Order: sequence, then structure tokens, then C-alpha cells
Amino acid sequence: MYTSPRGTQDRIGQDLTVLRFIEKQARQIFKKYNYNEISTPIIEEEKLFMRSLGKTTEVVKKQMLTIKKSGETLVLRPEATAGVIRAYLENNLDKCGEFTKLFYIGQMYRGERPQKGRLREFYQFGVEAIGSSSPFIDAEVIALASQILDNINVCGYRIIINTLGCLNDKDKFAQILKKILSTKIKIFCPDCKRRIKENVFRVLDCKNETCKEAVRNLNINRKDYLCNDCQNHYESVKDNLKQIDIGFEEDICLVRGLDYYTKTVFEIKHASLGSQDTLGAGGRYDNLVQELGGKPTAAVGFAFGIERVILVSDIAEKIKDQEEKLRVFIACLGDNALKCGFKLLQNLRKNNINAEADLRQSSLKSQMRQANKLNARFVIIIGDNELEKGTVVLKNMASGEQKEIKKEELIGAIC
Ligand code: HAM
Repeated sequence: MYTSPRGTQDRIGQDLTVLRFIEKQARQIFKKYNYNEISTPIIEEEKLFMRSLGKTTEVVKKQMLTIKKSGETLVLRPEATAGVIRAYLENNLDKCGEFTKLFYIGQMYRGERPQKGRLREFYQFGVEAIGSSSPFIDAEVIALASQILDNINVCGYRIIINTLGCLNDKDKFAQILKKILSTKIKIFCPDCKRRIKENVFRVLDCKNETCKEAVRNLNINRKDYLCNDCQNHYESVKDNLKQIDIGFEEDICLVRGLDYYTKTVFEIKHASLGSQDTLGAGGRYDNLVQELGGKPTAAVGFAFGIERVILVSDIAEKIKDQEEKLRVFIACLGDNALKCGFKLLQNLRKNNINAEADLRQSSLKSQMRQANKLNARFVIIIGDNELEKGTVVLKNMASGEQKEIKKEELIGAIC
């Protein structure tokens, strides 16, 4: 027996309906905020992620699923931002000199140890707003993320924000952290001992309980590392969020696991998810476009993990109630009735009526059982009698009412 690879899942029936429903809701909101869809390849060159996410991040060091082919090293994309910016530059969208708002929905791949809410293949929906450093955009992007959750009835989520400042500030922040954490280096796990030297921000993402405890209540003030511009930007983002009634908390330890971020960073968390409690996350990355070969261009975005969103929403239950029923099931008794039923089935479908029949010549009892299972609104019964008279028997499954009608009257009777 073959099974799907660990951390991946087949989606069948209701599972797929829920996923598509969330995609549809997200798409509608993206359109309301004037974002255009972009689709980029699932495979990208490994070096794209090394350059953008950073060589020392967990994603690049440990989680990339790599394909080596004829001297090329490709990876299954672990996230979409780097690919979107590559596409933005490769397709000369930067030359239009306009502010570009893009959204995407699709699978991402990370070779992680699977657990609840942590998969190797997972779906993300996200946006990238490229070409503006306005703090209104940071707030708009956070508002958009929050509106999607509200629209699919997710309650009890928390929005947490922080700022890393510009590259200079970020460097200062790293030095301050390094200084503080080096004084208690012995406490940390071997990975964090290395991280303190290589990329100190990653210590703040460590899942090891001792490391987590050691970085709790760090005595750092944003003023210690932020320049005036970045301080003002952060204050404006907070003001803008307040203006549009978006509640948020601040956490100086929120630094995000990918290296491209500068200035505003945010995460949207839900306590019911347990250890993988981040539903979605994002922030500014004002240096990435330049880093990938473009001119200096500010940008901000976010992505949500759809599987995590599904875990915290009651959408599956709601969809069950809303699901469109099968309009008609045709039950046929005998060979000739089946021939007539087969033609009728095609005719109904051509008239945009969702219809089904059992084409295997089963008993009436079995056909009625199928109609019930499919939640059909009407059952049409055709036997020799009806064939002779050019009629069908129409049964309303909710009321149980049954009547014989002419074939020509059928569509009117069921619409
Ligand atoms: P990220 O924090 O790596 O950011 O991922 C965003 C979301 O994807 C997470 O909050 C989580 O819901 C989901 N996710 C990540 N890894 C997994 C996994 N293994 N299994 C299930 N869900 C997962 C990014 O990807 C950035 N590109 C976001 C961004 C866009 N920043 C700016 N623009």
C-alpha cells in the first residue's frame, strides 16, 4: 500500500470544498483592495531563496526541498515573496513606475517535521504591495489581513506588531541583542549558541523552552536602536491602525524568521492552534527589490497558511448547510427506461440543472437510496408505463409528494 508523503495530504470532497471556499473569500477581498493576481512557478532557483530569505535562516538551512537536475539546483518554493519579486523584476513591472499590488494563492513546501498545523506541503494566500514606503500601506495591508479573517468568521485572533527599523537600525538591534544574550550564552541550546554569533534574531524564534525562557522580558527599548525616521514610521503605522479600529499588541521580541524584513513586522496568532499558533504573518521588506537586482523600492506584504485558518474557523460546518443540493436524481426501471433516462439526464445538464442517474441498472430501492445520499431535491422515476405515455413520475423528496407529469413539463416543474 502506498501512502502520501509525510506532511502532505490528499484533499477530497468536503476538505477541498472548504479550501476552495476560503480561496474564494480571500480573492474577493483582494479585489476589493485592488490587488491583481500573480502566479509564479512552484520551482525556483535555490540561490533566489539563499539571497532573499538569508543563508542562516531555518527555512534555507534545514527546510528547502531540493531538486538537482543537469547542474541546476532548484527548490520547491518555501514561500512566495521572493518569487513574486523575481517575477516583478523579470517582467519589468518595476519599469511602469507605478505602485504594484499583487496577490497569490498556492502551495508552498518546507521539509519540516510534520505536526498539527505544520505541513510539508501547505497552501498560502498572500499579498505584496510593491513601490511605496507610506505607513498607510502597512496599516492597509494589516487591515486587509484582518478583514479576510473576519469575513470567514475567525474570532479570537491577535495582531502583534513590532519594528526592526531600517538596515542600520536592524544592525544596531542585533548588536544590542548579541550583547545581552552573550552574557548568558551557557543557557542556550547548541543551535542558539551558534545563532548568537551568526544571526542573533533567530534566537528569538527558537522553540526550545529554555531558550524561550531566556529571551522572555528582554530589557530593550525601541528607542535604543531606532533612528528618527523609523521611529516616526512606526508611530504612524500604529496611529493609522487606530484610525481604522484595528486592535494590536506590541512585542519587541517579534523579529520574524526570514532575513528580508525591515521596519514593520507583524504576526496574527490564534491561541487554539497550540505551538504553531501563527495564522499569518508579514511585514516590510524595503531592501529586497534592490537585493534582487532592482532599484531601491519599498514593499510590504503578508501570507496566511490556509490549513491553519481552516483549523480555527467553523467554515466547514457552515458550508455543509449552504452546499447546493443535487436538483434531480433520475431512477430508471428497465433497459428502455434507462435509454430514455440517459437522454433526459443530458438534456437537464444542458439546461444547467445539476442532475445524476445510476447508469448501472440497479434496483429501484438502491436508486432511491442513492438519491437520498446525494440529498436530491427531486427524483424522476421512469418505468415502462411512463415510457408508453410519454410521462415521468416526479417525487419531491422534502414533502414526499409524487405526481405524474408530461416530459415537456418537467423542466418547468423542477426549476
Ligand atoms: P511565514 O511566516 O514563513 O512568512 O509564513 C506565513 C504563514 O504560512 C505562517 O504564518 C503559517 O500560517 C504558514 N506556514 C508556514 N509554514 C508552514 C507549514 N510548514 N505548514 C503549514 N503552514 C505554514 C512567509 O511565508 C512570508 N513570505 C510572508 C510575507 C509575505 N512577508 C511579506 N510578504
